[in-house]
Amino acid sequence: MENKIINLGIFGFGVVGQGLYEVLNRTKGINARIKKICIKDPNKSRPIDSSYFTTDKNEILEDPAIDVVVELINDTEAAFDIVSTALRNGKAVVSASKRMIAENLPALYELQSANKVPFLYEASSCASIPIIRNLEEYYDNDLLNAVEGICNGSTNYILTKIFEENLSFETALQQAQELGFAETDPTLDIEGYDPKFKLVILLLHAFGTFVKPEEVYNFGIHHLNDFDIQFAKQRNCTVKLIAQCRRQNGSVFAYVLPHLVKEHNLLYDVYNEYNGILLESAFTDKQFFVGKGAGGTATGSAVLSDISALLYNYRYEYKKIKQNNQPNFTNDVKLKVYLRYKTPDQVDLAEFFNISEKYESPEWRYVVGTINLQKLKDAGWLKKKDVNLLVLE
Ligand SMILES: NC(=O)c1ccc[n+]([C@@H]2O[C@H](COP(=O)([O-])OP(=O)(O)OC[C@H]3O[C@@H](n4cnc5c(N)ncnc54)[C@H](OP(=O)(O)O)[C@@H]3O)[C@@H](O)[C@H]2O)c1
Repeated sequence: MENKIINLGIFGFGVVGQGLYEVLNRTKGINARIKKICIKDPNKSRPIDSSYFTTDKNEILEDPAIDVVVELINDTEAAFDIVSTALRNGKAVVSASKRMIAENLPALYELQSANKVPFLYEASSCASIPIIRNLEEYYDNDLLNAVEGICNGSTNYILTKIFEENLSFETALQQAQELGFAETDPTLDIEGYDPKFKLVILLLHAFGTFVKPEEVYNFGIHHLNDFDIQFAKQRNCTVKLIAQCRRQNGSVFAYVLPHLVKEHNLLYDVYNEYNGILLESAFTDKQFFVGKGAGGTATGSAVLSDISALLYNYRYEYKKIKQNNQPNFTNDVKLKVYLRYKTPDQVDLAEFFNISEKYESPEWRYVVGTINLQKLKDAGWLKKKDVNLLVLE
């Protein structure tokens, strides 16, 4: 595609679609122009000329003049249909839809290989942080040990407001939604599904291992209460929702769980809608990436970077898959946790290997102890509103 102007067909003109429009207009020297934008609701008022818009997906998917399909919609099924049709029609595709990508990674990998077209999705994982291309190009060997970080701008915004400004959970969530950081369905953010989708994508690019989202345990910040906040503050800690995948004994484990984070930890100072990713490798120890993890122009700039990369024929090579020594996925790992509950019948302490601390009061009880990740994943008791969990460092 070098030296030519590429025609874009965009799906979606919400937070990210409009962010891309703004970024594209303000970026000089990018050889790309918008030919058509497909949206869902023809009656919504739009901030730009109506001639751009259509509700007919085929005006983009079947237009031979459109080189690149940019998929930025909030409907997982429709997004997969659009992306797979575009790839089959030989069009390069850029997408930000982490859930759609995480749930369909093997099929999307096959589709781009079979049709020999690039499919880029940097904005899907940690929005503005260029992490996928780094994992692909810089960490293209097997010396990477772990990818760990804050991958959800909305929950990090909420936790920042709770810990730094003493705001209530509800007020902080409302602010995150008003600022466009929260997903359309906020449970995806606060229960840790959104960072899990990103983690599944990062895990593939870090280690070459395909994992289904349902294999990875996620527990969010939806049960966090004042007692937990005091517990963290008394230990000079904050709480961060951490997504991590890590090699261990030839396998790789992964989870999204709220962690107690101490001041010396680089992730402690990642505030508001910012995301932070710590990479650990055999010889370089830790490397740290930080950047905005949500918002229109921050995400739009990552989408634009993918469009720009297509101009020099960039595509993911999935080198770790081709190296053919991927670690197996496991949930067999011990974690030290704080478990808070109201009455003893709400939890099963027999699942713990050991308990090092126990607290009881008329209002709340907690234990600190070690438990297997698979046990946590299987434990029905963590679904109870009175029960909360924090991983200790
Ligand atoms: N917001 C962020 O900060 C962020 C960051 C990274 C990734 N993402 C991902 O980017 C994607 C878009 O997010 P968003 O926040 O921009 O969503 P959004 O503000 O809710 O906008 C969604 C857009 O998709 C359009 N749409 C829905 N179904 C469609 C269909 N079947 N065909 C055509 N258009 C359709 C909607 O059309 P109408 O305008 O007609 O309703 C709307 O313009 C999501 O997958 C999200 O997970 C978002």
